[in-house]
Amino acid sequence: MTTPITRRGMLLKLGVALNAVAGLALAVPIVGYLLSPARRQRMRGALTWVELGEVGAFPEGQTRMATFRNPSTRPWDGQTADIPCWVRRLSGDAFQVFAVNCAHLGCPVRWFPQSNLFLCPCHGGAYYADGSRAAGPPPRGLFRYDFKVENARLFIKAGMMPTLGNVLASRREETPRRGSEGTPCA
Ligand code: FES
Repeated sequence: MTTPITRRGMLLKLGVALNAVAGLALAVPIVGYLLSPARRQRMRGALTWVELGEVGAFPEGQTRMATFRNPSTRPWDGQTADIPCWVRRLSGDAFQVFAVNCAHLGCPVRWFPQSNLFLCPCHGGAYYADGSRAAGPPPRGLFRYDFKVENARLFIKAGMMPTLGNVLASRREETPRRGSEGTPCA
């Protein structure tokens, strides 16, 4: 003998069914994004070493600007995917490669060899030649890219934007960082 379906039971089943439909409607685009080739491409780009040029293009003891193409770029990014950075060659294969953005609010900093300082035009932030904070509102030094030298050419891990989150994450990792000399700016 079958039990009669109560009004409450039917409303409950209806509610569960509607929730399932809503969950599916939300899940489809999320799963599609996670599995999309574009996302895989961006993840691959984040791990790519990008060449900045021959080591000889960066004289020892000097800081020069270099530009690279964002490895996670898309065709419609245009010139916005060309990213500058500051390259300081200490000696031989020892480099420091700094993000151009100020650690305060991200304005592009400029190198002034006369004063041996990076200066930020927005709020007067100043950094020493090694990227450490000298004065002003920035809470820390300039962010640094990991680098390596292979066949006399300089590469950086450009897909990983050098942010505070990355620095903290890399500190948690046990694996040694290739090409990072000294501790990241803190
Ligand atoms: S953005 Fe550089 S000091 Fe504020």
